[in-house]
Amino acid sequence: MEIQVQAADVTTYAGDALVVNLFEGVSAPGGATGAVDRVLGGILSDLIVRRSITGKMGEHALVHTMGRLPVRSVLMVGLGKKETFSPEAVRTATAVALRALRAGGARQVGSIVHGGGSGGLDPAVAAQAVTEGALLGLYRFQRYKKGENGAGEIETLVLLEKERTHLSALAEGVRRGQIVAEATNLARDLVNEPANSLTPRVFAAKAQEVARALTLQCEILTEKEMKTHGMGALLGVAQGSAEPPRLIALTYRGALRATSPVLGLVGKGITFDSGGISIKPSEGMEAMKGDMAGGAAAVAAIKAIAELKLPVSVVAVIPVTENLPSGTAQRPGDIVRAMNGTTIEVINTDAEGRLILADALCYARKLGATHLVDIATLTGACVVALGAVRTGAFATDRDLLERVKRASEAAGEKIWELPLDEEYEEQIKSDFADIKNVGGRKAGAITAARFLTHFVDTTPWVHLDIAGTSDTDKEKGYSPKGATGVMVRTLVELARSFVDERKKRR
Ligand code: BES
Ligand code: ZN
Ligand code: ZN
Repeated sequence: MEIQVQAADVTTYAGDALVVNLFEGVSAPGGATGAVDRVLGGILSDLIVRRSITGKMGEHALVHTMGRLPVRSVLMVGLGKKETFSPEAVRTATAVALRALRAGGARQVGSIVHGGGSGGLDPAVAAQAVTEGALLGLYRFQRYKKGENGAGEIETLVLLEKERTHLSALAEGVRRGQIVAEATNLARDLVNEPANSLTPRVFAAKAQEVARALTLQCEILTEKEMKTHGMGALLGVAQGSAEPPRLIALTYRGALRATSPVLGLVGKGITFDSGGISIKPSEGMEAMKGDMAGGAAAVAAIKAIAELKLPVSVVAVIPVTENLPSGTAQRPGDIVRAMNGTTIEVINTDAEGRLILADALCYARKLGATHLVDIATLTGACVVALGAVRTGAFATDRDLLERVKRASEAAGEKIWELPLDEEYEEQIKSDFADIKNVGGRKAGAITAARFLTHFVDTTPWVHLDIAGTSDTDKEKGYSPKGATGVMVRTLVELARSFVDERKKRR
């Protein structure tokens, strides 16, 4: 879909359909919606008076213009209450409106920049949110379906703004929105792709493709190099599979000075998690093709950061392997040695994410990361604690966590901090090795995070457990069913917070 910005009055737009909006509680629409209402002889305000639409988030009403406007139909979408209005409301309303119009066969759509007028948002922020809502909300994964089902695509979205002085800010917002939404959709594609297609080698090749297009530095480690680096924890997980593992390391050097911080993004890349010898129940196991969502988010985020040419330096490290049972698979009771020398007793082979992250965190530090953020579909316990609403967050550094929190708020991707108290350490003490990979039934998300602290040394670190948020079993705002691409936009916003202050003020 092409997204354009045009200096024009909404009433002059000549495509298939026009999107206008309504705040909850407003009975006489003003601004651009008011102008459309007047041309339509008050049809919109009549719908409001008759309470056919009240302006609640997600509500929408379609009216046919019967030749009174150059478009065939006008869709009025609810923005919710003015008091709680935010870019997140713009994303959701845009997604709802455009999905409804696509289902009705619209190809050329014009829209108000929601929030730009009485909403009080900065025009660039509003345009970015509309763009994100459109591209994310219209996303579909249908490469394995025959062509005939589903409506066609919306070809063009035109953002209409009569205030000429806002145009360049709007265009900039659209550009940013396109970059981050397309990156998020790349992450969704990778997560939705089945494991027979997205093997570790294929994942690595896709990362290489991303790197080539952007002149990012790309290093792909094979088993031989993993052995040289002493990555026994990653190799232990990989040894059960006939597919060889890979470790992807992408580097973007955007920072202006050699002494600038380096943000390390470490993403779990299990292309299929059967549990290994500690095999999972078969019901629902197909969802474990998405156990590389953290890795996909890391690749997508560094891609967007590079496309935005942010003056920051970032390394993305993604350990990629399958976790399968076989005659060569690792057994419960096995002891492996991670890259930093820490020995681990593998009690449960299904707690494999923390094992591969152990070596990847060490490797990210070796590559010069001064700040670490890992993203992982790590524990079912996190799903029990926070459900599908919030991503679990753990931190060894308050400042880094505050940055991540602010970024997640701007992105509309909710997180919630869980504790990391020293007392939980007791649960992962091993009789035979330095630590063990599971800590019993209690506080499973926390003991997993505690395990990871053994591999970050003193580097400021935040861990994001996306087990509950990386996919959705029902359409949710601008996230269709399936992979959400969660945390891609948060990570891009986070990188923005590392742009040095002098540069920012310019
Ligand atoms: N990939 C799973 C975690 C998961 C569960 C992700 C549900 C998404 C949805 C992880 O590797 C795992 O199996 N964790 C175990 C750990 C346990 C054995 C300590 C779990 O959470 O059950
Ligand atoms: Zn597992
Ligand atoms: Zn897993």
